[in-house]
Amino acid sequence: MSNDRICINEQPVWARLHQHQRATRHLHMKELFAQDPQRFDRYSLQLDGLMLDYSKNRVTDRTLELLQELAQAADLSGWMRMMRAGERINISEKRAVLHSALRLPAQASLELDGEDIVPAVHAVLARMASFAQRVRAGEWLGFSGQPVRQVVNIGIGGSDLGPLMVAEALKPYADPALTFHYVSNVDGQHLAQVLQQCDAASTLFIVASKSFATPETLLNAQAARRWFLQYAAEADIARHFVAVSSNAPAVQDFGIDTDNMFDFWDWVGGRYSVWSAIGLPVMLQIGPERFAEFLAGGARMDEHFFHTPFERNMPVLLGLIGVWYNTFYGAHTHAIMPYDHGLRRLPAHIQQMDMESNGKRVGRYGERLDFDTGPVIWGEEGVNSQHAFFQLLHQGTRLVPCDFIIAMNTHYPLGNQHRVLVANCFAQTEALMRGKTEAEVLQELGDLAGDELDVLLPQKLFPGNQPSNTIALDKVTPYNLGMLLAMYEHKVFVQGVIWGVNSFDQWGVEYGKQLASRLLGELESGQVAAHDASTAGLMRHYLEACHD
Ligand code: F6P
Repeated sequence: MSNDRICINEQPVWARLHQHQRATRHLHMKELFAQDPQRFDRYSLQLDGLMLDYSKNRVTDRTLELLQELAQAADLSGWMRMMRAGERINISEKRAVLHSALRLPAQASLELDGEDIVPAVHAVLARMASFAQRVRAGEWLGFSGQPVRQVVNIGIGGSDLGPLMVAEALKPYADPALTFHYVSNVDGQHLAQVLQQCDAASTLFIVASKSFATPETLLNAQAARRWFLQYAAEADIARHFVAVSSNAPAVQDFGIDTDNMFDFWDWVGGRYSVWSAIGLPVMLQIGPERFAEFLAGGARMDEHFFHTPFERNMPVLLGLIGVWYNTFYGAHTHAIMPYDHGLRRLPAHIQQMDMESNGKRVGRYGERLDFDTGPVIWGEEGVNSQHAFFQLLHQGTRLVPCDFIIAMNTHYPLGNQHRVLVANCFAQTEALMRGKTEAEVLQELGDLAGDELDVLLPQKLFPGNQPSNTIALDKVTPYNLGMLLAMYEHKVFVQGVIWGVNSFDQWGVEYGKQLASRLLGELESGQVAAHDASTAGLMRHYLEACHD
């Protein structure tokens, strides 16, 4: 691995980008479009069923050139090569980062520590497929001889958000005989409400936890087990509980037979794990063939990412444009708006993927960074969000770069509703970009004059110049979704490399976990230890107010 420690903000191109931002910030995208009738053709890319339009950004050819220089200064190509080759680029945990290996075809090979890992990946996929086929065919029988009808995935974070999002998006491909539930919250109402809809004799629980040490998941899994044992015997657990984990001893300790465990490896990060056995509920829902198409879509994006020059590389361009706003414009957030009901959980999944990866204030070698890193990722499904927070995007004071995601074809044709959806999506990106001028507003206001005009005119103006990317899928198919997801994964990687952070650890989530376990002990014993006045006050309030 390269030992060159690059201080990115000390590279000359960093200062040149700041200077370039100062020189170009007055430019309005409307002018850029007027100057260059080819802007859409030049600033859009197509890869199979995925089109990226990045023309509605505050960038010129020079901006993109400088950003690519920044990527070179950060040795992006070198880090891409190291990731792909399985070097231990997750330095703090001394792990390789090989989620892209999960998407390799069976005939490929990739050596890690002298061993080809592709056969192991495909061996697990084959076990998952054989299990999924048995469940889907009604051959996997529960304790009373009934086939599985409900599947409950118990997991949290990457062991929940990824499969849940993909499952929602790919519902049109679902086996209607099976109902899926995803339980993540330690709040008992989540599991309790799901169990109310389940019949123990026909329910399959998937306990999904890479570490098999995550308290929320284990607590929910134990509660599910207790519920199940009200109806069945200990020996029946094997037919109703399976595990997905990289920790076989902990799975065994929990009481799940390791024959019913689907494993994955420490080189798969939780938030990048939907391609692994963590995708089991998705495979059960859509079948092994469709799941293979999902993997193939991811592999197609990997190939594009690893082999395409930066100037035509979708994840690289998305990453660099994001850095442009975040680092050089000081934009703090980035919004993701899927104009697709099935993709409504995408913002939450990307939020974890991005914020857990790049929400770091210290560089990969432990150095304190004195610039902002990962943005706050947020978003909601399109159209609904137009009636919620778009006011701020159009007329607020902040720069909010957005991604709009839309399918060109729907699985659910219903009158002209899909066309209305598309029109709304495109209209929003146009309105955000062009805004509305004083002359246009005056024309709209007609005869209005005097004080009334003075009050209304500024309120009806839209400054525009709000940037957005539009990602158009031909249709939300497993393949296209695979491309979309892998594109975001690589975008996050690109940004992590530029900012010099380790995108693959997550030390920041540990502290709260430790404190929670200490506080739980105190709440159980009723002995409140020394805390700040607020925490101690809240603890005492709970002990007094709780009647359970
Ligand atoms: O939130 C921290 C985290 O470790 C995530 O990275 C991970 O996706 C999640 O918890 C669940 O972890 P596990 O799969 O080990 O239960």
